Amino acid sequence: MPDLVDPAALDPAALDSALLDPASLAPAPAPAPALLDPADADFARDPYPYYARLRAQGPAVRTPLSNGTHAWLVTGYQAARAVLADPRFSNVPAPRAGRPKPDSAAERARACLARHMLNLDAPDHNRLRRLVTGAFTPRRVDALRPRIEGLVGPLVADVRARLDRDGVADLVDTFAFPLPVLVIAELLGIPEADRTSLREWTYRVGSPADSLAPGEVEEAWGSLHGYFTELIAQKRRSPGDDLFSVLVHEEREGALDDGELLALAFLLLFAGYETTMNLLSSAALLLITHRDELAAARREGTRRWDAVVEETLRHASPLEGATWRRTTEEVDLGAGALIPAGESVLVVLAAASRDPASFDAPDDFRPARYLSGAGRAAGHMAFGHGAHVCLGARLARLEAGVALPMLFDALPKLGLADDVAEVPYRPGLLVRGPRVLRVRT
Ligand code: HEM
Repeated sequence: MPDLVDPAALDPAALDSALLDPASLAPAPAPAPALLDPADADFARDPYPYYARLRAQGPAVRTPLSNGTHAWLVTGYQAARAVLADPRFSNVPAPRAGRPKPDSAAERARACLARHMLNLDAPDHNRLRRLVTGAFTPRRVDALRPRIEGLVGPLVADVRARLDRDGVADLVDTFAFPLPVLVIAELLGIPEADRTSLREWTYRVGSPADSLAPGEVEEAWGSLHGYFTELIAQKRRSPGDDLFSVLVHEEREGALDDGELLALAFLLLFAGYETTMNLLSSAALLLITHRDELAAARREGTRRWDAVVEETLRHASPLEGATWRRTTEEVDLGAGALIPAGESVLVVLAAASRDPASFDAPDDFRPARYLSGAGRAAGHMAFGHGAHVCLGARLARLEAGVALPMLFDALPKLGLADDVAEVPYRPGLLVRGPRVLRVRT
């Protein structure tokens, strides 16, 4: 979810320049670790060897980035947990001098998204989080199961139809992308007639910057902003039975105002779709390339599918990094990692979940490590830790736990149309997953 930090940062180049605060613009000293280029295709496909080298150097390493700035990268499991639980690492983005006032619908949309709870620290964060947690109860999330099943069925049929027609289908485009967007449409209570537009706008604002004309991306931001504004007004007039209506009509003290509701609608969309999309496509890829694990899950059922989902979250963390943190004072993480105040810090969740000090054979895909019972592996870091730990974890697990068995029961012979080494990955430091996953039967 790159746009959660700075919506302008939708491609790796912009990401670098926009995410790093001006304090980090001082020239880096002689680079100890190799330069990190988030746009590099090989790095995007397999960043793990790079992170393993960083982990060996200490709990946090000052890392030069390809745009001439630097950041402190945290790659070990224990250090990642410590940083995410430590209030000296702030989520509030640094003010950026000279930024023009938003004067187009697209800029207003981005400015509004920047007000969400992932960009806040205590105590402001607590208030928003408490209200949203109150609406996101396990009962409400679990009640979505039949609706999710109802959404997966037609998507699987579409994958099958494309395979019959063309011999190949892109599983990202036909399955992993639309499902989370449709589930968020359920949460937000978006009528079915409007869901094709939601899907289209989301696709455009989330597309890598080079793949669409700039005008199209701007227009989609403006359309989403206008649509969500009207949606909130309409729910004020007549609430539905969706989770978002509960928040719009929250009566408690400190209830969300319209600007906060708008930011939340954007946050749920962007926190929920790209992450879950990566989970679904990475799980499909891992199962296709580990046929014995696929067979075991199909044979053993729910418990084993749950372990597949958990192990995919660990092995192929859908968020490569947590959102950027910034030190509010000098922090000593030990072992020589002394981070000055005002520095940008990236907790690399993907690397923490592959720390050999916390997981046996961390680079192997072994769902059995998450079967319940003695010897169950440590919890992974895919959903983060501390005050901002993911609010949608239960929903994401539910979606994957419904979607994967339905896909592979319908299409058990699904295989890759391309060599696994050719699968392109999304560029950038914040999200990780296949950009395209061409399959055949
Ligand atoms: C596989 C899917 C998902 C993954 C891996 C994931 C991961 C994360 C992580 C790592 C964070 C914390 C980021 C940080 O500390 O910087 C987070 C926060 C959040 N996630 Fe998720 N997420 C997923 C799905 C969802 C879904 C489906 C929703 C809701 C529709 C959601 C809503 C949120 C929200 C609202 C926050 C902000 C919480 C706060 O700031 O207190 N996530 N997520």
